This record gives sequence, C-alpha cells and structure tokens, in this order.
Amino acid sequence: MIVALLNQKGGVGKTTLALNLAGVWARQGKRVTLIDADPQGSALDWSQQRAREGLPRLFGVVGLARDTLHREAPELARTADVIVIDGPPRVAALMRSALLAADLVLIPVQPSPLDGWASAEMLALLAEARIYRPDLAARFVLNRCGARTVLARETAETLADHDPPVLTATIGQRVAFAVAAQSGRLVSELDDDTPAAREIAVLAAAIDAVDTGRTTP
Ligand SMILES: Nc1ncnc2c1ncn2[C@@H]1O[C@H](COP(=O)(O)OP(=O)(O)O)[C@@H](O)[C@H]1O
Ligand SMILES: [Mg+2]
Repeated sequence: MIVALLNQKGGVGKTTLALNLAGVWARQGKRVTLIDADPQGSALDWSQQRAREGLPRLFGVVGLARDTLHREAPELARTADVIVIDGPPRVAALMRSALLAADLVLIPVQPSPLDGWASAEMLALLAEARIYRPDLAARFVLNRCGARTVLARETAETLADHDPPVLTATIGQRVAFAVAAQSGRLVSELDDDTPAAREIAVLAAAIDAVDTGRTTP
C-alpha cells in the first residue's frame, strides 16, 4: 500500500500524521518506508533528531522531493509493506507525481468552517490523476479537532458520503504531537495510552480498512 498525505496548505498535519502512522504500522511489524517529498525535509529532520537522541530506527525515511517520485515509489514498495509519502506544499509537479504514485491519498484538514478544506487546485489535481489512476482512493482526515471534537465527528459523519469522503476517525488538538516530534519521538513512545496515541491507532486501522476495501473486489 502506498499512502500519500497531501494538501497544498502547510501546517495541516501532513508530516505529523505521516510519521505517527508510519510508526503504528512499523510497530505492528510491517516493513515501512517514509518518503519525504517536501523539499523542506521535516520528516528527514525528525529522523535525524531521532538518531541524535539514540533512539532505535523504526522505519526508513528517504528524501525524494522530485517529480520522478511516481517512478521511484513502486520500486521502493517492492521491499516494503507500506510506503507513506509526506507530501509537498504547493509545488504542482511534485503533487502530481505523488498523486500518480499513491494508492490512497489522505488529505489532512482542520475542521474549521472558515477554512476551505482543500484548495480547488488540489482537488483538480486529484481529478486529473484519476484519469490515469481510476482506482486512486482519497479521504479527508480531520486533524486538530478542538474542544468541539464531538461536533467535528458529527461533521465527519454527515460528510462521509462526500467526494472525497471524510474518515470518521479524527485527530484532536493534542500538544503531545509537538512534544514527541521535538525529541524525534512518536506520540505512542511518550505513552501508549494517551488520546493522541489512541487516535492515531484508530486512524491507522481506518486506513487499513479503506485499503482492504480498495484491493478486494
Ligand atoms: N493534532 C495536532 N495537535 C496539535 N498539534 C498538531 C497536530 N497536528 C499537527 N500539529 C502541529 O502543527 C504544526 C504543523 O504540522 P505539520 O505536520 O508539520 O504540518 P504540514 O506537514 O502539513 O505542514 C506542527 O508544529 C505540529 O506539531
Ligand atoms: Mg510537512
């Protein structure tokens, strides 16, 4: 499975979710490779910080912020169970390449009504990719849901039949994500039994279910 976290908006949680989801799958014993497709290299920075802290390697992080990504990713996928792509901001050529590489696109969004969830350009690029990849699945993921998480979940449920649909597994506004990232850790490594760690585990399971639905006729 190749999962790409994409949204042309910055700061929506692409890197945070990519790292923590990769961590869930790695801890399940899956062979995971994370492709950092962002020229800023935040996932690579995290990996370097992790090494500095002397923490064990959980999954490989490779920098591949090139528009040949769609040619390289299937090659990397041959020796991995899951490839997670941490997507680039704004650069359309990179975005196109990531969309062509992916089996499943996750679009993290903040569930703010003031906020357009994804730019029209992002959705246009997705539609364009589907001409070549009719089986390409896409889902919105509500991230940083505030105190009104219940409301966000209701929103997610009412929007579940939108295109792309919204996953009912949502992620709250949790300071643990920033705390963990600073020391090259995952939220599950701070404590397995925090809301952040539980939400990421539920999200990973929801993604597995989408993938199973995609691959079984
Ligand atoms: N659910 C969350 N709760 C709290 N902070 C979050 C959450 N998701 C992301 N953040 C924080 O928001 C900032 C931007 O997230 P990041 O994953 O780097 O976004 P992107 O990769 O889309 O630019 C980071 O400081 C990160 O720690
Ligand atoms: Mg990022």
